[in-house]
Amino acid sequence: MKNILITGGAGFIGSHLVRLFVNRYPEYRIINYDLLTYAGNLANLSDIQDVPNYFFEKGDICDSENVDRVLRKYEVDGIIHLAAESHVDRSITDPFCFARTNVLGTLTLLQAARNCWSRGLAGDAGRQAMEGHLFYHVSTDEVYGSLSEPGTFFTEECRYDPHSPYSASKASSDHFVRAFRDTYGLPVKISNCSNNYGPYQFPEKLIPLFLNNIRHSKPLPVYGKGENVRDWLYVMDHARAIDVIFHRGRIGETYNIGGFNEWKNIDLIKVMIRVADSLLGHPEGHSLGLITYVTDRPGHDMRYAIDSTKLKDELGWEPSLQFEEGITETIRWYLDHQEWLDNVTSGDYMNYYEKMYGGR
Ligand code: NAD
Ligand code: DAU
Repeated sequence: MKNILITGGAGFIGSHLVRLFVNRYPEYRIINYDLLTYAGNLANLSDIQDVPNYFFEKGDICDSENVDRVLRKYEVDGIIHLAAESHVDRSITDPFCFARTNVLGTLTLLQAARNCWSRGLAGDAGRQAMEGHLFYHVSTDEVYGSLSEPGTFFTEECRYDPHSPYSASKASSDHFVRAFRDTYGLPVKISNCSNNYGPYQFPEKLIPLFLNNIRHSKPLPVYGKGENVRDWLYVMDHARAIDVIFHRGRIGETYNIGGFNEWKNIDLIKVMIRVADSLLGHPEGHSLGLITYVTDRPGHDMRYAIDSTKLKDELGWEPSLQFEEGITETIRWYLDHQEWLDNVTSGDYMNYYEKMYGGR
């Protein structure tokens, strides 16, 4: 693999993945294909924007002509697909936007990859031509639904049971990826990961939103009773897992990625308050009063927990960071990068593309 297209590379996970690949594989050309929606921020990649093996292409995954142009321009032989609408609450207010990007966008990319890599050949000849290429689809544990029994986990064999428009759209995109594998012989891999945390996450998601609010003494809106459970993984551990699966995972397979690290929301929020108050020089318990219980998210999944044994046994991947260390570093990062948060919350980051690329 020499020319790798990463979609959604200006987002939270994508920016960590692009940086990892650009620095780790100087012999590869890494092309970041991103529409720069509200969630895309090129400032996340300012440290690598001039590195010779990094390329940026602004574009929509739903725009088949442009996708086709970019695949041919760079002679792309591997795609790692992260571009998506990713926030559950937004999917509840605008489900069509999620169907467009996550379902039609993925289908558009699959079709473009197939057309380009099969060189227009049908049947076995097309399958043969596609060998050596790879379409890697990055998905989520939310496609499996919600766990009720304590001690149970999502394995790769669990049946799909999505509840939100977001998870329904991701489930649909996973199905299309497998359909292209089975129908046309497209070489694919899929991974389903649990909740990520770390720097550069858009402050609509629980951790950066709450840290920003603690900083500004604003209410912390806890959905329902705060008893929902999420399985948290440091974002760089996710990026490293993608690297391992991309290079060494078996073609056609699915791998679950998670850290065996379950937290009830309210317990995690109390950890954030304790660490943030201490770093901000506040007395212990200072921000506890900001906790505000609000109406629950409709269809709110109670518990996610990933079993990543297959990934460990087959490919030797394990999370590298203990949660206590990772969450403390993450909290410190958001408190130290108030300017990044201010740019994002004010919308200023939207001008970064014009500034860096002059609108090209
Ligand atoms: P994000 O919202 O931070 O970033 C999404 C990126 O996709 C942005 O840069 C945005 O500009 C781009 N994008 C959106 N629509 C596009 C379009 N039509 N064309 C091109 N680019 C477009 O998302 P994230 O949290 O980094 O998630 C990345 C991927 O990982 C998603 O597919 C998500 O489903 C999956 N995932 C996320 C998590 C998590 O905890 N955040 C966990 C598991 C899986
Ligand atoms: O599990 C993987 C998924 O994790 C990804 O596929 C999604 O893209 C990502 O957004 C994330 O989904 P969640 O819905 O779990 O993440 P979010 O940060 O929105 O919420 C985490 C938990 O915190 C969830 O139980 C809802 C709750 N919450 C969230 C917000 C934003 C609150 O209680 N209050 C809030 O204001």
